Amino acid sequence: MRRYLVAGNWKLNKGPAEGAALAREISELLQGRKLKGDVLVCPPYVTIPAVAAVAQGDPVLTGAQNCADQDQGAYTGEVSPAMLSEAGARYVIIGHSERREYQRETDELFVRKINLVHQAGLKAIFCYGEKLEQRQAGQAQAVVKAQLEGVLPQLESADAYNTVLAYEPVWAIGTGETATPAQAQEIHAFSRQVVADLLGAKVAEYMRILYGGSCKPGNARELIGLPDVDGGLIGGAALKAADFVGIIDGAEAAAG
Ligand code: 13P
Repeated sequence: MRRYLVAGNWKLNKGPAEGAALAREISELLQGRKLKGDVLVCPPYVTIPAVAAVAQGDPVLTGAQNCADQDQGAYTGEVSPAMLSEAGARYVIIGHSERREYQRETDELFVRKINLVHQAGLKAIFCYGEKLEQRQAGQAQAVVKAQLEGVLPQLESADAYNTVLAYEPVWAIGTGETATPAQAQEIHAFSRQVVADLLGAKVAEYMRILYGGSCKPGNARELIGLPDVDGGLIGGAALKAADFVGIIDGAEAAAG
């Protein structure tokens, strides 16, 4: 019912030359395969055009990791969603825990960014997830609910077509520690219920909710095979073509 999405978040890795080479390697490994889902790579801004030249769908798409919260004007250093679209991006990651932490980004900013992403005809991947101490205090569901409630109902338009969610427990990002299948399924099912309450049952039924946090070839099939997990947002393992494609193989196997 929901097509999986396997998305690579390259973070601060790969300039144009290395990025184009990695995208080409991934495309070649997937050459001629008819996939049951969607594949996306999100390089740094400057690498987007080089990657988009080799990843314009069929099957690898190109995305961005961030965008401005303004269309244009005197905002030094910023890049608008419309510019990203022109450069070849089709998705934009918003709300990643690293931006919440290091750039102090807030719900209000996420709302402005996602609205512009949608206005530019792009899809948003909205990230959320609790920190270790919040989970240990038994607050994982409350934190996740607040993060979704702080953004989704404020959006001008949010539907299962233009918005993807990515649950990324902060304690699992880059740590090698992965949420257990039970932990992931619990929060994903809970998230879907929150989406149903905020945006309606139909949207919740079709909205894709990705898992992120130390996802790798060895655990992808089990995680992505969970009833409410619709793909992965991949950090470290997205930087090696064989590992990234191994995760896509896991998603394919999970899709039956
Ligand atoms: P890792 O896969 O390296 O844990 O990173 C996950 C992530 O932050 C994807 O956005």
